[in-house]
Amino acid sequence: MQGRLTGKVAIVTGGGAGIGEAVAKRFAKEGAAVVVAGFAEDPVREVSEEITASGGQAVPFTGDLSLQPVAEACVQLAVEQFGKLDILINNAGVFPATATLDKYPVEAFEYMVKNNIYSVFHMTRAALPYLQKSRGNIVSAGSEAGWMGIAQNTPYGGTKAFIHAFMKGVSTEQAKEGVRANCVCPGPVDTAWTHKETGPMSAKMEKEVVAAPPLGRRGTPEEVANVYLFLASDEASYVTGALYFVDGGVTNSKGPHGEEVPSELKKEPEGQLVLEHSKDGHTSIREENAGRMV
Ligand SMILES: NC(=O)c1ccc[n+]([C@@H]2O[C@H](COP(=O)([O-])OP(=O)(O)OC[C@H]3O[C@@H](n4cnc5c(N)ncnc54)[C@H](O)[C@@H]3O)[C@@H](O)[C@H]2O)c1
Repeated sequence: MQGRLTGKVAIVTGGGAGIGEAVAKRFAKEGAAVVVAGFAEDPVREVSEEITASGGQAVPFTGDLSLQPVAEACVQLAVEQFGKLDILINNAGVFPATATLDKYPVEAFEYMVKNNIYSVFHMTRAALPYLQKSRGNIVSAGSEAGWMGIAQNTPYGGTKAFIHAFMKGVSTEQAKEGVRANCVCPGPVDTAWTHKETGPMSAKMEKEVVAAPPLGRRGTPEEVANVYLFLASDEASYVTGALYFVDGGVTNSKGPHGEEVPSELKKEPEGQLVLEHSKDGHTSIREENAGRMV
């Protein structure tokens, strides 16, 4: 059966957990061959095996994508394994701390600059020669926080605003090479990051984050993956330099509008993907994933 990505080769960074798992599985279901990339500690091998077990094409890649040689090796794996590269999904990111800025840990700031910004820079730079050949495209993970700012993790919003501006610049510069570049900007998504039990949010922060979107709930990883799919596919051939908000309306919200939503409308859709790693995300500083940025 013809899928929306049949014949395409994609790299999904941060593909072992959360939204990335859903993107990798959605793309594979639509016929793409997928490189599932993430840290060695992330369940990238599991996701890759789950895809192949259900009839899709995938290979795992493990390493720190914020490092230039590792990013280049990831791109090489895609080309060696599948012969080309059509789609780069820059989804990898971290959310290691919450605190007001006067108390914000400096190492958490550096950790985000390293893992949220350097990884997007090096992966995009390494992928471009191959995307130019295939007339491919890039979709990067922005955020409503990169548009609105976010209290108690102000540097996180800054790293995401970098990605918005970076992708817009890339889209203009690379249009003449036939390469498109866009951002998906999620609001609160049902991954490890937005639960007090699995991430750095306090109970109060979690409550506010879920009450703010007018749709009254978190988005699911699959709902976000659906928008990645559209942007990465040829259906979006006239879309470049765009920020696609997948945020339940939170960037328009001026208060806890979600509290007014009746409970039956707050139920998350079940979806079709089998997601095993949506809460396996990266929500603290791991010593082995820190280190020098250059
Ligand atoms: N969850 C949300 O509410 C939300 C909201 C807005 C934007 N986003 C964005 O979506 C993306 C995914 O978020 P998530 O909630 O699925 O997170 P997650 O922690 O579940 O998954 C992200 C994965 O990326 C990996 N990663 C991070 N840096 C890496 C590096 N240098 N090399 C290799 N792998 C690396 C992590 O280890 C992790 O496995 C992030 O970029 C995030 O900023 C998420």
